[in-house]
Amino acid sequence: MQVINSIADLREIAQRRVPRSIFEYVDRGSYDEITLSRNRTDLEALKFRQRVLIDVSRQSMAATILGGASSMPLVIGPTGMMGLVHGNGEIHAARAAEAFGIPFCLSTVSICSIEDVREATRTPFWFQLYVMKDRGYTMELVDRAEAAACPVLMMTVDIPVSGLRRRDPKNGLAVPPRLTLRNALDICTKPRWAWSVATGKRREFGNLTAAVSRTTGTTFAQWLTSQFDASVTWKDLEAIRARWKGRLIVKGIMEPEDARRVVALGADALVVSNHGGRQLDSGASTISALPGVVDAVGDRCEVLFDGGVRSGQDMLKAQALGARASVTGRAFLYGLGALGGEGVTLALQIMSRELQVSMALTGCNDIRDAGRQLLTP
Ligand SMILES: Cc1cc2nc3c(=O)[nH]c(=O)nc-3n(C[C@H](O)[C@H](O)[C@H](O)COP(=O)(O)O)c2cc1C
Repeated sequence: MQVINSIADLREIAQRRVPRSIFEYVDRGSYDEITLSRNRTDLEALKFRQRVLIDVSRQSMAATILGGASSMPLVIGPTGMMGLVHGNGEIHAARAAEAFGIPFCLSTVSICSIEDVREATRTPFWFQLYVMKDRGYTMELVDRAEAAACPVLMMTVDIPVSGLRRRDPKNGLAVPPRLTLRNALDICTKPRWAWSVATGKRREFGNLTAAVSRTTGTTFAQWLTSQFDASVTWKDLEAIRARWKGRLIVKGIMEPEDARRVVALGADALVVSNHGGRQLDSGASTISALPGVVDAVGDRCEVLFDGGVRSGQDMLKAQALGARASVTGRAFLYGLGALGGEGVTLALQIMSRELQVSMALTGCNDIRDAGRQLLTP
């Protein structure tokens, strides 16, 4: 049996088990993937200070994120089409997060619906919102999240238009997925994946079916494309803030100026994010943007971080630069693609252990004390 002890191992297995069009949808970034690789190289470049002869026999990784207790400072982030990476992917990931004691955030463009996930879990989960042209439908989604007892709404703001991942059209990835001959042949060599998806609850966007059935004469793909709204502004954030009574996170902030405005409009948290290098290409890495945003908002708002997090070391670096918690995208998706729900759990275990060891070797006993002192200047 293969020994799996890194996110890279899970990625390699996922690459073998998931059809190429889906694997590359997860793995790749927009345009020339400059931002995608910068997210990683800038994280890798940070150096820890090794500290010695400190009693590290009792450590705490426990964090409070948006008022909720979390066993470690990590959130399973919103990613579209999890249910096509593995059948019922959203439910598997939500359950793994629940068992681990960390938050799970469901995407607007998930395969399993808000209600499916609600039914399959006991712990309240977060919901991520894309603002669509049909503001009525957008607000219906907000209300559905409230009805499902979601305590946190995460509004994503870095996708007024979609960046092009060049591999997707080349792989024949359509929304919803279209079966080409090449894809069909590929699927024949991925029987585990095919079985899991074929026996999953759904294969279309679970949260959006009602809106689609209300429209006539347009395909689902045309409908979805036409729904992403390039005219989203700060006014929409105000409207969502006014409607949503729970905690509100704004995801996709890179500039201190925007961060200050998010705080002024009453958000409880923001995510420093460039959508995992899937949107603006040639932008800064998220880890390089993090300190400026943290300094700009101070303690008026929690700052979460994502982009390139593949290990506990990466999580500790983000904490050291002021993040309240990291958000994982691809790392847990590799686990999901490799081994389903067990793979997500394994990804969380690997990252948790790496975090614990890195804390010990930098002399950090409580994750809440992690600060810039852990890194070389
Ligand atoms: C396959 C995939 C789908 C994604 N879908 C969404 C989404 O539906 N909503 C959203 O806000 N962010 C989405 N993201 C962005 C992630 O939430 C997160 O910002 C990003 O993955 C972090 O970078 P990392 O993958 O390097 O960890 C997606 C990312 C991936 C990889």
